Amino acid sequence: MNKSIEKLLNDQVKYEATASMQYLSMASWADAKGYNGIAEFFYAQSEEERVHMTKLVKFINERSGTVIVPALDKPKADFKSLSELFETFLSSEVFVTEKINHIIFECLQKKDYNVHNFMQWYVTEQLEEEAVARTLLDKLNIIGNDKSGHYLFDRDINTIATEADAPE
Ligand code: FEO
Repeated sequence: MNKSIEKLLNDQVKYEATASMQYLSMASWADAKGYNGIAEFFYAQSEEERVHMTKLVKFINERSGTVIVPALDKPKADFKSLSELFETFLSSEVFVTEKINHIIFECLQKKDYNVHNFMQWYVTEQLEEEAVARTLLDKLNIIGNDKSGHYLFDRDINTIATEADAPE
């Protein structure tokens, strides 16, 4: 595998791991505040990001590359509001999408169609996750500071997320 592509894939391992730990931190924050639905949503997101990370680790090894398991920065652990929590979610997903797009660009430059093909799964995954994050944030913006709205959002988050994720 091209060394610069291998480096980008290892960087992506770190970004997926960082997202996983960030969402675990967000799940724990929501859990402590009594938002059980939101907590379960982020526990599940954290697991998903771990799967994304492991898939990359296995792929690099399959291609006889060298995996570098990274050290991570401490994730953000405190949030002023539900809106801030979901803004953090969206900005994390937007960041990951940018990095994936960069890998795709470099694969085309280096004519590595094998990695390009592998990364298509991530492109699709990012489209879905960004759509979910935007929809949830839109709903929160409508709700504003209404406490009973927050109660319903917490109760219905999985339904809202599933609808956002559904193909048109
Ligand atoms: Fe795997 Fe949503 O980044």
